[in-house]
Amino acid sequence: MSTPMLTPEQLEKFDRDGYLVLPSFVSPVETTTLLEQARSLLENFTIPESMTRFTTKDSEKDKHVGDKYFLESGSDIRFFFEEGAVSPEGKLLPTYSKSNSINKIGHGLHYLDPVYRNFTLDNPRLKTLARELGVHKDPQVLQSMIICKNPKIGGKVPIHNDSTFLYTHPEPTAVGFWFALEPCTLTNGCLWFLPGSHKLNSGRIRERFVRLPDGGTGFETLLLDEPEPVWDESKFVAEPCEEGTLVLIHGSVIHKSEANRGDQSRFIYTFHMIESPEHGAIYDEKNWLQPEPGKEGFERLFDERS
Ligand code: FE2
Repeated sequence: MSTPMLTPEQLEKFDRDGYLVLPSFVSPVETTTLLEQARSLLENFTIPESMTRFTTKDSEKDKHVGDKYFLESGSDIRFFFEEGAVSPEGKLLPTYSKSNSINKIGHGLHYLDPVYRNFTLDNPRLKTLARELGVHKDPQVLQSMIICKNPKIGGKVPIHNDSTFLYTHPEPTAVGFWFALEPCTLTNGCLWFLPGSHKLNSGRIRERFVRLPDGGTGFETLLLDEPEPVWDESKFVAEPCEEGTLVLIHGSVIHKSEANRGDQSRFIYTFHMIESPEHGAIYDEKNWLQPEPGKEGFERLFDERS
């Protein structure tokens, strides 16, 4: 029997903190391959007619980010600009190059891009790791992103948890796999976590990001009796890391990243998985991300049911 990839202490840490940092999980060669593919995608895309800036949530709550280009991105590889890269009229500003203006690429890389598909779905180490983590019986990979966070323009990701965006019921089951493709520092926008926050409200999700009936997207509050939380930012823990690091992220843990104030980009690749409906996790029909009829996208990680 092979040596386990995760020690009991690491499993305990994931359960306690809601995240786990695994340095040097991805080899330098693999990391370079993923980074070069990301840069190649950026060099070769054409600016979409409908340019879309991306925001998860900020002071303009329920900001309308839901156009067709965004809502159909789960079945495609699409490019989203930084907010500061586009004029109010929707034109790319001349300050930055086209490729340096991209916030993220998503959300179907895990099955549509050959390099990222191979790394995500045909990766025995990831299958073993997911089995050892033991959160899912039949995990489905349902979205993937490259987040660029380019120098000076790469925006912050506000405080959030991931199950807000990938809601399952009766239990939230989203888990994120987050891979540093470049060094992530305090200057260029590394991850910050609120350890243990995945256990707040008994792990229930306070709100979710949905498709609105009249088009677009917005946040819908689930725990109406709970006051809106005020997060003590002094309790957040920074997790700077080297390229090749994998961070496992519980779907309920509160986290964020700051804007890139430095001169070095901070490319990362991330995908999320949920439990399958056969094992009792219903992927909600209101979620912003929906499988497009006749297309793939919700990909099983394991080859056989266990
Ligand atoms: Fe996140």
